Amino acid sequence: MKYALISDIHANLPALEAVLADIDRRPDVTATYHLGDLVGYAPWPDEVATLLGRRGIPGIAGNYDSTTGTDYKHCGCKYENPDQEALSHSSYEWTRAHVSPETKNFLAGLPFRLDLWPRGGHLSGGPRVILVHGTPVLNTLYWTEDRPDSFCVQMAEIAGAKPGDLIAFGHTHKPWHRIVEGIHFLNTGSVGKPKDGHWRAGYVLLEAGELGLQPEFIRVDYDIERTMAAIRDSELPDEFAEALRTGGAPGSPLEYKTVPDANAPSP
Ligand SMILES: [Fe+2]
Repeated sequence: MKYALISDIHANLPALEAVLADIDRRPDVTATYHLGDLVGYAPWPDEVATLLGRRGIPGIAGNYDSTTGTDYKHCGCKYENPDQEALSHSSYEWTRAHVSPETKNFLAGLPFRLDLWPRGGHLSGGPRVILVHGTPVLNTLYWTEDRPDSFCVQMAEIAGAKPGDLIAFGHTHKPWHRIVEGIHFLNTGSVGKPKDGHWRAGYVLLEAGELGLQPEFIRVDYDIERTMAAIRDSELPDEFAEALRTGGAPGSPLEYKTVPDANAPSP
């Protein structure tokens, strides 16, 4: 049994298409689930929702989905300075103004949490895989890698997770995995807006075998130029295109570099 877990697509259709194509090339993947934040920051919110719906990929509500779907006053996103706050507001307003009524309904209908029993059989024995967007208590709370073990244990208790179980989440756009008191904690990273300095689309393959649950982080090339051009052609702030190129970390050695056109006339 192997699941593909995809999160934080953020309306980046080329990244989603590349990830789904990569999953399709793996016949051992049994099912795909999304962990929310389908929209925001890029210009294809309807197309992303439609593609997930057409493919029958179940999933949960990210903060961007639950707020867009219910016309909440802001997206519940974190910002560290007034410039980031202004960018955050313009992305949210653009998204709210451009999503179709069908997409809004789709987003509003996403559940807060999904529980999977990959080896359940006739018994509810487990292990269990719990999907939430941010944390089991709040989809806007950031579960970063530097949270202490005590925070993880507290979240596991609230979620009802037992040793051998796994809680998967996204929201920070930075992938990580650790085991505390026998419970797996897995941040699946981001398909469409990574912030770990890697520009490639990220997702997780989760194997549920005899040895328990084993996650594998995957990164996929996608047509980032198409996304960057579409952002610049839209009324969305150009800064979002630049953030994709650097993987959210300006100056990262892993950031995307445009390959010079070999046929271009030399200056
Ligand atoms: Fe997100």
